[in-house]
Amino acid sequence: MSDKTFYLTTPIYYVNARPHIGHAYSTIVADVLARRHRLLGEETYFLTGTDEHGQKIERSAAAAGIAPQQFTDQVSETFRTLWQRMGITNNQFIRTTSEQHKLGVQKLFRTLYDHGFIYLDSYTGSYCVSDEAFMDQPVGTPCPDCGRPLEEVTEENFFFKLSAFQEPLIDLIESDKLKITPDSAKNEVLSFVRGGLKDLSISRSSFTWGIPVPEDIQQAAGAKQKHVVYVWLDALANYMTALGYGSADDSLWQKFWPADVHLVGKEITRFHCVYWPAFLLAAKLPTPKQVTANGWLLFDNAKMSKSKGNIVRTETILAGFGDEVYGRQFPDSTREERDLFASDVLRYFLLREIPFGQDGSFSFDAMITRYNADLANGYGNLVSRVLGLIQQNYVSGLPKPTAPWLCPDRNVYREGEEPGNPLEAKSGTHFISQQVSDFSDFASQALWPSNKFQIFLAEVALRIGHVDGYISFHKPWALAKSESPSDQQKLIEVLYTAAEAIRIITALLYPVLPYTTAKVWTQLGLGDIEEAAHSGKLNNLTWGGLEPGTKLGALAPLFPRAPKELAEIMSTMEEQNAATPNSQLATEQTTEQAATTPAAAPTTDAAPATTEPTSLQRPDASPEITIDDFVKVELRVAEVVVCDRVPKADKLLRLEVSLGQLPDGSQEQRQILSGIAEWYTPEEMVGKRIIVITNLAPRKMRGLESHGMLLAASEPGGKPMLATVPEGVPVGTRLK
Ligand code: MSP
Repeated sequence: MSDKTFYLTTPIYYVNARPHIGHAYSTIVADVLARRHRLLGEETYFLTGTDEHGQKIERSAAAAGIAPQQFTDQVSETFRTLWQRMGITNNQFIRTTSEQHKLGVQKLFRTLYDHGFIYLDSYTGSYCVSDEAFMDQPVGTPCPDCGRPLEEVTEENFFFKLSAFQEPLIDLIESDKLKITPDSAKNEVLSFVRGGLKDLSISRSSFTWGIPVPEDIQQAAGAKQKHVVYVWLDALANYMTALGYGSADDSLWQKFWPADVHLVGKEITRFHCVYWPAFLLAAKLPTPKQVTANGWLLFDNAKMSKSKGNIVRTETILAGFGDEVYGRQFPDSTREERDLFASDVLRYFLLREIPFGQDGSFSFDAMITRYNADLANGYGNLVSRVLGLIQQNYVSGLPKPTAPWLCPDRNVYREGEEPGNPLEAKSGTHFISQQVSDFSDFASQALWPSNKFQIFLAEVALRIGHVDGYISFHKPWALAKSESPSDQQKLIEVLYTAAEAIRIITALLYPVLPYTTAKVWTQLGLGDIEEAAHSGKLNNLTWGGLEPGTKLGALAPLFPRAPKELAEIMSTMEEQNAATPNSQLATEQTTEQAATTPAAAPTTDAAPATTEPTSLQRPDASPEITIDDFVKVELRVAEVVVCDRVPKADKLLRLEVSLGQLPDGSQEQRQILSGIAEWYTPEEMVGKRIIVITNLAPRKMRGLESHGMLLAASEPGGKPMLATVPEGVPVGTRLK
């Protein structure tokens, strides 16, 4: 155990959206790093959590018709449970609505005030509610970050003297005392700071869902309104309050602060590299050592985000790879095992596919192809092949190879093999041991410290290929049949070399594939990998570390092949989820998805935010609702009077439906957008009597407002069958 500590954080996630794989990406990278630092013997503290205050969340709660605390309790829980299902090893999950956090934030605010860096003033500006920030662009124009219209806000605000920190921040960043990676993020931050810093509004009085500015400070400053702390000051402080800053017991804070790495999405580097260090400098507290920005996961060429409606939920991956791949191979496996397996696959894919720091596209097809190539055919196949041969030939453990095999200079080429042939060079014991050893040094010294996960995993895959080639070349299965003592010696040597290479590769892969490497570790006969990580054994990558005579554990397949159709299955799961009205109400629902898929049958409607993905196939798993819940939903008979396609939206139809006569004799009519264009033509829709949810909050898609949803019974991937009523039921009739 080294006496080094390592404190690592993820952003704390807003609870106005349920988690998608964009959030999982940051959390996964942090977990990989945390595991890596633990196996290096560093005392590691890994923090994640949820960001629960602010106007955006207050509004989401109102839209869901529940109190903000209840709302944040629910959504925060979906994050926490998901990370648990994925085997994320965070040491703490902080919530900004906790009492400890509140005390810490108030202490920080007070410190800044006492040091003379806070004053009260009035401010009018254009404000983005979604980003919780004032913007330079005019009111009514789209927010430069998220595209939503900017609103005019006039407020009496407490201000932080950010302008006083331009020079200190430039020094801090240029000197790498606050190291910002990648360089592109550092340059962006530097040019922002060099462009001049305005004082920053750090309180809000237009809403109440936040941490109150300490009462005595409000009074002393002569505030006329009630103020809550600006959500970014509140949120950033989590990195210290989680450790007890501002609480009676701040021993963790004493031990771990300043943070070694704040891992953040690239869109929030400014908050972490400008505001946060400025607050800390003003409070005379140590600044974090490093801020590392990850790029965005893109889906359909845009940042995956709830507002764009192009999200993939992690639950879909867990159900796809966990149930459809692992669960089929191991029908007796537990839910937990299936989740952890699928989580490994997602971890591997994201780190292997995306150069860290850059944006990367996600697709189900790419994920399946990569899984089959690198994990099923690559690593998994190699392990099964080699360990299978050892098991068959040496039930009581692989014997010690004869002495010379360890000599690095020994020429391994045998009689009948022609030296000088490049294929042979790649197939030699010496080549393999050297390759694997050199690589593990290189990985430890260069690739890991600079977060080059993609190169690291590509290089591991290459070594796996070499070992595979080595096995194919020496054909141990043929050697096993030979009686000759030299062939028997060679068999031991070849199998030992391959097994030792697997040991090192497995130790290297552990941070990325914690669940499956644990299985390989026990299959190798090395016991519990977590214990090995803890005791420093996983950090012993010196060639020859595998004790001869080690008896293998029970063997079992590791990575069953994933069928091509899995992509379709997972896409359908996403659509199904988007089609459950509850996912709109509860939290995140995306405008686009809400209407591009028809309403599911009522039996599956009420799936809660935390529903396991498989419950989509198990209608009986829906939670109980009360009659009060049900009567909130207004279902009415409607007739389609106009229907056309929506330009550039393959799945959307625009319907105008009639809901019967209003008391003044006019027709009650409304526009609804529905994602049924793949199955229904506009012509066949006109005149149809359908059932519509009429009290759903309106949503905008492709510039058009949708005021309701159609009801349909739909099987995954199948044609949605529109719900209807018998002839003679008047248009407008309510269903109860
Ligand atoms: N609450 C703030 C952060 C406060 S930290 C003191 C916030 N929350 S967020 O939920 O909107 O996003 C947080 C982070 O989630 C991003 O910074 C990023 O790390 C991750 N991601 C969310 N969507 C993502 C992608 N599409 N791709 C990659 N990461 C993404 O901002």
